[in-house]
Amino acid sequence: MNKRFYIKKSSLFIVVVAFAVAVIFTGCNRPETLREAYQDDFYIGAAVTVGDFQSQPFYKMYDEEVLKNYSSFSTENAMKPEVVYSDRGPEHYRYKYAEDLLRYANEHDIVVRGHTLLWHQSVAKMVSVNMSKEEARANLEEFISNYVGHFKGRVYAWDVANEVISDSGEVYRERSPWYIAYGGPEYISDAFMFAHAADPDAELIYNDYSVVDSAKRARIKRMIVELKLKEKGLTGVGIQAHWNLTYPSIEMINETLDDFRRMGLTVHITELDIDCYGDPDLPEQEYTSKLEKKLADRYEEIFLCFRENNDVVSSVTTWGIGDDHTWLHKFCTRPIPYRTNYPLLFDYKGEAKKCFYSILYAK
Ligand code: GLA
Repeated sequence: MNKRFYIKKSSLFIVVVAFAVAVIFTGCNRPETLREAYQDDFYIGAAVTVGDFQSQPFYKMYDEEVLKNYSSFSTENAMKPEVVYSDRGPEHYRYKYAEDLLRYANEHDIVVRGHTLLWHQSVAKMVSVNMSKEEARANLEEFISNYVGHFKGRVYAWDVANEVISDSGEVYRERSPWYIAYGGPEYISDAFMFAHAADPDAELIYNDYSVVDSAKRARIKRMIVELKLKEKGLTGVGIQAHWNLTYPSIEMINETLDDFRRMGLTVHITELDIDCYGDPDLPEQEYTSKLEKKLADRYEEIFLCFRENNDVVSSVTTWGIGDDHTWLHKFCTRPIPYRTNYPLLFDYKGEAKKCFYSILYAK
């Protein structure tokens, strides 16, 4: 054989082999799950149902292929006061849903966030506007000490207080029955103090919506300072992140994260979903390939931002797993009773959507 031809042929062979190895190697390095993709960044979680309100437990709704993506779970409703509390005394507390989740979490090496101890929309029989401050305080202490104490060392983070800040004008949500019974915001610092005493190692979070709005955030920061919440056990802020395809800008998210970094707090993204309408009056729209792409790009830019800020972002939780189960279908102005929305990473059949892959491979 001609020598020149032989050399040419063998170098071509080397190039082909090197290319194949590179392709295989890159393929091997690609993460298979979100959990793997973000293992060096933050916990990646979802809020799930555990059979509360007659719903199906999440492990019957989604198969292991889907569930193996998560390293953290919270419950959509099952750990709220109205589900857990019916009367004073731990014998009246309904822990079965939370225990069920913890059993699954333990078996799968997943951490659990507790959502939530204090929320004006779920006060159960613990407080009413006519109650004295002393009685309300005693009930709050009894509830939080028993509840957090029961799950000590098993629930790693609690959304201690949810949505106690006003949306305009005054700092606090003054129409909350807790605020009225106490005659002021001291119930918030009490809640942190009781939770910290019950489990000193748990992360204690203040959770709210519109945290990226600078005016609302200023009120949140004021509360943290005014009530000395860090001294009471607060470790971080929960950004609910019910966002849409355009709001908020990445700049706003960065500013928000910078702010809490400066305050020495961590950030938990607690309820992320992307409303595909962004306006409660719009008519229902189909899930077109254009929308699918927009949603994938949006999720990708948001996750890239979280990853860049992984020194402060310590967990990211989506509010649900698949589009089959999301509160956003009913988040529209009457008379529209229901409008199909597509805010999550999996579709109606539990199949991964394009936005799942855009964050799985985000670089
Ligand atoms: C708020 C609450 C959540 C949930 C959502 C909507 O964000 O914090 O617990 O109720 O509203 O479903």
